[in-house]
Amino acid sequence: MLPNQSKKQSPSKTEKRPRREFLRETLTAATCAKWTSTGLGVTLGVHTTTNASSASNGQTINVGLVGCGGRGVGVINNILDRNPDARVVALADIFQPRIDNAVRTISRKHQGKFSVPKARQFVGLTAYEELMNEDVDVVVLATPPGFRPQHFELAIQTGRHVFMENPLAVDATGIRRVVAANKLALRKKLAVGCGFQYRHSKNTQDMCTRLQGGAIGKIRSIRVESQRSGVWVRPRQPNQSELEYQLTNWYYFVWLSGDYLVEQGCQNLDLCNWVIGNSPVQVTGSGGRKERQGPDHGEIYDHFDLEYSYRDGTTVKLKSSHWPSNKDKLRNEITVEGARGSAEFISGNINDSKGNAIWRSSKSDSVNMYQEEQAVLFQAIQRGQRYNEVGQAVAATMTGIMGRMAAYEGREIKWDDAFASRETYLPQEIKSFADSPPSLPDKFGDYQVPARGKLT
Ligand SMILES: NC(=O)c1ccc[n+]([C@@H]2O[C@H](COP(=O)([O-])OP(=O)(O)OC[C@H]3O[C@@H](n4cnc5c(N)ncnc54)[C@H](O)[C@@H]3O)[C@@H](O)[C@H]2O)c1
Repeated sequence: MLPNQSKKQSPSKTEKRPRREFLRETLTAATCAKWTSTGLGVTLGVHTTTNASSASNGQTINVGLVGCGGRGVGVINNILDRNPDARVVALADIFQPRIDNAVRTISRKHQGKFSVPKARQFVGLTAYEELMNEDVDVVVLATPPGFRPQHFELAIQTGRHVFMENPLAVDATGIRRVVAANKLALRKKLAVGCGFQYRHSKNTQDMCTRLQGGAIGKIRSIRVESQRSGVWVRPRQPNQSELEYQLTNWYYFVWLSGDYLVEQGCQNLDLCNWVIGNSPVQVTGSGGRKERQGPDHGEIYDHFDLEYSYRDGTTVKLKSSHWPSNKDKLRNEITVEGARGSAEFISGNINDSKGNAIWRSSKSDSVNMYQEEQAVLFQAIQRGQRYNEVGQAVAATMTGIMGRMAAYEGREIKWDDAFASRETYLPQEIKSFADSPPSLPDKFGDYQVPARGKLT
């Protein structure tokens, strides 16, 4: 039983401390399998817990959500689906309608289990700070990734366990801030989950174990072919300030999304790093804008063509496009070539070098990976086990960032140089709607798109 549990209907300052400290101080047993050190002061870890039970142990965990959009709502639903002891107590977003929508959507799915009074709904660019004054044990960070470092840092400084969505930052400056905050998280024994849900898929875990176990011999190369048609566009509305517009249409601004290679591509890049068991040492490549033109597509690219090299000689060749014209030929494939065969990572096929099937993954995954990633995190918190996914998530995010740098700058980029880079897309934190965004349109309303070799 937790101290002061009977008072939790309306959390007060006096009951706040003891309960959070209880949850934190019981984090003792290590469950992270450490498989390689990156030299970044963090550990690349693949946690090994699966099929976490959803049984209640009566220890309530208070959850607060920062960023009440599509994924934030999804994360809360996944938490409530599998963790009977979780209670959502506070919400923060820059826009009230997003909070209203989150309340409606989550209440519909979890009737009777979800209710956040107006007094604990916080709106604006400093709403995350107000939320972190509340009695919250776990903070979910699901805003655009440009804000992740500053939100993660405060969550850890104030002693919260964290689940944060991918990617973790948009540039190396942000990544170093995440790494520094994570060192504190490890010292404070705070649990941190990151939104790389494929790490929690039974099928992907099986595939990875087989490939690392030598099913196709030494892995020589991986081909990532990703043809997608793009995501939403949120056109400018009348009376919107420039900052409001960019915050709404955030995907198309590098300071908020990191470009689509970082924002979306980091999942595929994480799978490559996972199979190879390391992060790349260098990358070369190119990219540009072919189909997604005009102001509502902001300043990001719509295609990348990259080649990563790893210390053991393995290469990853990535061809990716987000073109509307891809709509009839959508594909996302990761092909792993080994000395004795090959594997289609996403469809789950392993063949020998003559094309004979060695292994096929089951058609449907035995676990829902989105729910599973919450179940294992909350189980670790309740059981007092150490849990930290930041190493692998930093590696995946940096792999995307260095690829973007290679394409924008038109030169080979080494991991160490990328990691040490002073490049920053957000020179000053944005904390008020009166602030100016770091990217501004020209007199025709167009944004400056990075030209190969001419980084602006
Ligand atoms: N793991 C996955 O498969 C997956 C899927 C979708 C999205 N994501 C990630 O989740 C994150 C959110 O994506 P989304 O699709 O939910 O976007 P979204 O636009 O639907 O939601 C983002 C929300 O954050 C709010 N917000 C923006 N800046 C804020 C700030 N400074 N403080 C508080 N709130 C702020 C916005 O108003 C919006 O409601 C992104 O990093 C994205 O890459 C991951």
